[in-house]
Amino acid sequence: MSDNANTVKNLAELISSYSESYNQKLGLGASTEHESSVISAACRELGALVAAPENWVNTVAGSYNNSAAICLALDLGIPRLLSQNRSASLDALIEATGAAPSLLRCVMTLCVENRIFDEPSKETYALNANSTCLLNENFRSWIHYLVDDGLKMGSYLSVYAQNNSFKIPDGKHKTAFEMAFQSRRFDSAMERYFHRSTQAPIEDIFNFDVLRPGATLVDVGGGRGHHSLRLAMQFPQSSFTVQDFMCKKPTIREEPAIAEAMSRVTWQQHDFFEKQPVRGASLYLLSHILMDHTDRSVRRFAVFCTWNIICADGS
Ligand SMILES: C[S@@+](CC[C@H](N)C(=O)[O-])C[C@H]1O[C@@H](n2cnc3c(N)ncnc32)[C@H](O)[C@@H]1O
Repeated sequence: MSDNANTVKNLAELISSYSESYNQKLGLGASTEHESSVISAACRELGALVAAPENWVNTVAGSYNNSAAICLALDLGIPRLLSQNRSASLDALIEATGAAPSLLRCVMTLCVENRIFDEPSKETYALNANSTCLLNENFRSWIHYLVDDGLKMGSYLSVYAQNNSFKIPDGKHKTAFEMAFQSRRFDSAMERYFHRSTQAPIEDIFNFDVLRPGATLVDVGGGRGHHSLRLAMQFPQSSFTVQDFMCKKPTIREEPAIAEAMSRVTWQQHDFFEKQPVRGASLYLLSHILMDHTDRSVRRFAVFCTWNIICADGS
């Protein structure tokens, strides 16, 4: 057997054995995270090995089609339309959206291929577990941001990099990434963390007991303040300052408990590379902000900070 054929066989066996343990663990209600990641990686490798090289490169290079299809499905409100009935035909979706049949057919075909929607019978579509997530407004904003701003940013990125001789400039928010981050959708997407959905909330990772009565927290680069607001509800005798380029309050619905928490949060326009205007706070929170900047600019930022800092970053 050739090396290639051997690798294909080994990968298929790996997928088969991990599928068994995946099913067993699923039955026991145990975590299947490890099995999922091994199976996904092996399937992808197997796909690349058995595809004709030109087809594989074509598929990878054209993956923007998948993003564009999700983006159009969101723009047309397809998840919401499908949630109103158990399933909907292509004709019903055409009538409800006014979209051209050929465009909508392409969108739905790509989304079904990528398991975003199900197609229980020909040209009849239904939500599945993946698209049900898209009914959550904040998650939808996040995906919309990824596919919409991400596509735009991605298309400029190579020109941007070439113009900068493939170096990352030190400029403040004049990067392609930050330009995309100024979008309304990104702000809204980050607000999903107010509801503690998806990732582990920072208070599950760090001990915020330092927020004793009267304590003050500065949420540096805090966006619209979703973390501060959530913390304010848990620490009723502390106050919070949210600093960001823009000074925007969240769009979270007003309820009495939220209104009280909001009264202890202030929003301040501040560029965190400038001198920190709030001195002597109990805690400075840096959540997911440093990874957007070069090591050199982060070092420049670090010299301003000699206080209690919690840094929750992907970097
Ligand atoms: C990825 S978001 C993180 C938001 C929030 N801290 C969180 O963890 O969800 C990065 C935030 O940093 C802000 N930001 C980036 N550079 C900044 C700067 N130099 N000064 C102030 N805010 C900045 C952006 O506007 C954005 O709201």
